[in-house]
Amino acid sequence: MSLPTIGVLISGRGSNLQALIDATKSGVLRAKIGLVLANKADAKGLERARLAGIEARWLDPRQFTSRDAYDFTLATELQGKYVSLVCLAGYMRLLSPVFLGAFRNAVLNIHPSLLPAFPGLDAQRQALEHGVRVSGATVHFVTPGLDDGPIVAQAAVAVEADDTEATLSARILAAEHALYPAAVQRVLDGGWRIDGRRVRWESPR
Ligand code: GRF
Repeated sequence: MSLPTIGVLISGRGSNLQALIDATKSGVLRAKIGLVLANKADAKGLERARLAGIEARWLDPRQFTSRDAYDFTLATELQGKYVSLVCLAGYMRLLSPVFLGAFRNAVLNIHPSLLPAFPGLDAQRQALEHGVRVSGATVHFVTPGLDDGPIVAQAAVAVEADDTEATLSARILAAEHALYPAAVQRVLDGGWRIDGRRVRWESPR
């Protein structure tokens, strides 16, 4: 049976992209990464993808007259590679309804908090400033709202008394790297439907 093809959108470092790449190699993720696209020229993840033999390109938003035009091109490029699921991995741009309409219920994101707590930027700093004892990571379907879509999977991470933004971020990031590939595989396995805010699974785990 041929493997499903996923696409990955990045803006920077690409450590979650690397986790997805590694998972396709180890067999934790039974998928092929068909295309990696970045909105930033210097996104380190582009190099990670190329090293793994994956086609990776920067699409410069300034070359497009509107967000819709940019997102239409992103979607067209991904569809051209027969991508059936798009994974955002540190992609720092809101996706328009044009893109989300092209990949209906087929875009995932990973966020470094237990949503709905601490959406948006600097989630780890928000968690520290709020004084929570537990934070973590969330994989969710992407909707037009910021970090707001139905939740696929979460991992909890303890917040230690002496944590700094850096130490907490590193602990959450390690959890992200395990969580994201497993969550992507679970979505690819099927047996789910979206019911309002919730993802309903045929076989709860
Ligand atoms: C991760 O913390 C992810 O949760 C958030 O952006 C960061 C991306 O890191 N959406 P990387 O580029 O995957 O290393």
